[in-house]
Amino acid sequence: MGRILIKGGIPLRGRVKISGAKNASLALLCAAILARNEIVLENVPDISDVRVMIEIINSLGASAAWENPETLRIVPPKKLNAGAPFHLVKKLRASNLLLGPMLARFGQATVALPGGCNIGVRPMDLHFKGLTGLGADLSLEHGCVCGSTPDRLVGARVYLDFPSVGATENIMMAACLAKGQTLIENAAKEPEIVDLANFLNAMGAKVRGAGTDVIKIDGVKYLEGGVRFPVIPDRIEAGTFMVVAAATGGDITLDNMIPAHVQPLSAKLREANADIIEGEDTLRVCVNGPLKSIDIKTMPYPGFPTDMQSQLMAMLSVIPGTSVLVENIFENRFMVADELKRMGARIKVEGRMAVIEGVDSLEGAQVKATDLRAGAALIVAGLIASGETEICNAAFIDRGYHNLEEKLKSLGAIINRK
Ligand code: EPZ
Repeated sequence: MGRILIKGGIPLRGRVKISGAKNASLALLCAAILARNEIVLENVPDISDVRVMIEIINSLGASAAWENPETLRIVPPKKLNAGAPFHLVKKLRASNLLLGPMLARFGQATVALPGGCNIGVRPMDLHFKGLTGLGADLSLEHGCVCGSTPDRLVGARVYLDFPSVGATENIMMAACLAKGQTLIENAAKEPEIVDLANFLNAMGAKVRGAGTDVIKIDGVKYLEGGVRFPVIPDRIEAGTFMVVAAATGGDITLDNMIPAHVQPLSAKLREANADIIEGEDTLRVCVNGPLKSIDIKTMPYPGFPTDMQSQLMAMLSVIPGTSVLVENIFENRFMVADELKRMGARIKVEGRMAVIEGVDSLEGAQVKATDLRAGAALIVAGLIASGETEICNAAFIDRGYHNLEEKLKSLGAIINRK
């Protein structure tokens, strides 16, 4: 799994280019199988989750390959080879996003249930509610979701009890080729939803309202495809570097990003007394005075993103005073607290709440990443701790960050991979 060594205590300064969004790329790769003709996706991050998804769609019969380090050429499948193989699916929860496109294009789907993951059970009841609402027959057989449609899917009105990102994406993709209109109510509003809708429309779909609570999709007979489409920048990678700048007391400018997508984090960092200067596709974070403790509640977009909660916990652990984090999205997303406490943090976790008492400093230690964003949080902690920190299970970090060590080194960090 690899280990990362960091020598902390250095304010990081300079500029860093943000890569394409992991979570948009994964959804777009699934959507690509809906099309008849070749797709080119630009600004795709070369990260392990994307590489696994490429393997999965190629196992289904697509032909996806890198044209250059950030551009993917995808020839959609003409027919389905087979179901998505479990040894790949178990690595990637987002493989459940193949259900909608497979049912819509081919009338059948077999996707091994990826099962829970560290941060939560990750149920799929809302995915099933939407897809069966469109006429799919779904069953669980030997740990796989098996789906079929007697005929073409039929548009329906679907209310999501929770604005699930994945369920919104699966239903949106399925509805593109359904007969008639689909309404998704209480839909997720994340920027990745909007990017997926823009991609589907570029391929010939009719999706309206993405980014609001209600998404309307008028089904069409097929998606032409044959488009070149740039993936949006990764707002969570951007947010991670914003926290690195504030936590190390540095001064970092992000390039190739969308300030509006990180607005919830910018607001909280300003509340903590960091300076945020926004450009058109840049954002600068610097610190000109002591940071203050703050409280965070994670919420669906445009609330504070759950994927930034662990990184904030690391930063707040050395800010004087008491900070309170409430995690409203996943039931088990405070695991990094135990590792931070091994570095001297004072954190008390009670259910969905974590109370952080700021300490003067963290001490470098041997720690382990338990999931992607916990790994990112340990990177933040290692950068601010005194002495050397060794992070094992570094492969978790490679799932969602491209060239993270190189980017941090370019900002002055002393960081290496063992
Ligand atoms: C997406 O996961 C992201 N992953 C996650 O990012 C992100 O944390 C999450 O959205 C929330 O923003 C990808 O896009 C690949 P959800 P997803 O469905 O779609 C409950 C990262 O680190 N729920 O919005 O799985 C669920 O249990 C990853 O980049 C149901 O109850 O998230 C959870 O409590 C981690 N029933 C809540 O909704 C369902 O059918 C949010 O889940 C589906 C979800």
